[in-house]
Amino acid sequence: MLSYRHGFHAGNHADVLKHFVLIELLNYLNQKDTAYTYVDTHSGAGLYSLDTGYATKNAEYETGIAPLWNRDDIPTALQVYLDVIQDLNQSGKLRYYPGSPYCADQVMREQDRLRLFELHPSEIKILSENFRKLEAHKAEQGIRPSTRGKRIMINAGDGFDGLKALLPPPSRRALVLIDPPYEVKDDYRRVKVCLEDAVQRFPTGVYAVWYPVLSRIESKQLPERLKRIPGNGWLNVTLSISGPSPDGFGLHSSGMFIINPPWTLEATLREVMPYLVRVLGKDAGARYTIESGETEVLKSERTPRTTTQRPMRSADRPSDARNGRPSAAPARQNTRVARPANLNKSRGR
Ligand SMILES: C[S@@+](CC[C@H](N)C(=O)[O-])C[C@H]1O[C@@H](n2cnc3c(N)ncnc32)[C@H](O)[C@@H]1O
Repeated sequence: MLSYRHGFHAGNHADVLKHFVLIELLNYLNQKDTAYTYVDTHSGAGLYSLDTGYATKNAEYETGIAPLWNRDDIPTALQVYLDVIQDLNQSGKLRYYPGSPYCADQVMREQDRLRLFELHPSEIKILSENFRKLEAHKAEQGIRPSTRGKRIMINAGDGFDGLKALLPPPSRRALVLIDPPYEVKDDYRRVKVCLEDAVQRFPTGVYAVWYPVLSRIESKQLPERLKRIPGNGWLNVTLSISGPSPDGFGLHSSGMFIINPPWTLEATLREVMPYLVRVLGKDAGARYTIESGETEVLKSERTPRTTTQRPMRSADRPSDARNGRPSAAPARQNTRVARPANLNKSRGR
């Protein structure tokens, strides 16, 4: 089923969690010179307009990036994520939001490789066009990749299937983001099957899965099932901006499940998640959880690590419901690469 368009959800609380964690993982990989491959099995359009088209329909960015925009108390670890968005919005007005491929491209180095998959015929066109313009813009600035045609490859195809051929990567270093729409319940099954296969092909890769926290059984079971996939360890972080709505509709909570997480990630999350709950939280149901551990298989062979689950402390809770509007703090200066002119934004038709 290909009715999903990420533009409707661009910049919401789930995107904030996903892209913040993604950028953390990439920056960790950047610490070693050896090149790595980033695989985005479900890329979307790559870049979204917030003031035209799909995003204006429900203004979901007001639950995510908007309340963070222009705040002057952003934790250092979160600022790295905000830098990418500020680069894109040099005027200081929040108009564009980056998708995962764009975030990755901004953070990754010349020697690294991006392998992007997208199945939707319209989204793949916009994604390809956005990267063509991005490359042209870089060329205008005199930035000419020595690896033209190799650094970024965009594949119009099924990301679950396409991943197989890419593992293990030549440099034996990779991060894989799996971020399907979950509009059909088979996506939950395919995530697990795809990961089992991927980890078998390339056990030392870093794998990140975004998932919605919903009352449906498949959503509840997914993290539990992923914990059983063999690896060196896993980390599961969730962000809820409110308690569930009475009618059960709407996405109020989502998670990122990481297999083989960097050892630094948990401490960073413990610094940033209380802040996200405080700023994005809408009611007393707002909370985060962080759990980490080793897989069931390895657990029997090694000393178990403590698994932690940390609901929001009362001090972290917002005292009143927030309306998702940005604070009136002064705009931050941008010092990094300008947004390429005339990028296509995913828009409503
Ligand atoms: C949640 S969106 C991706 C958002 C993107 N990862 C980001 O963070 O900006 C999911 C995308 O997966 C695409 N899609 C759905 N099934 C797919 C499949 N089997 N393989 C590749 N792409 C798929 C959809 O068209 C949609 O654009």
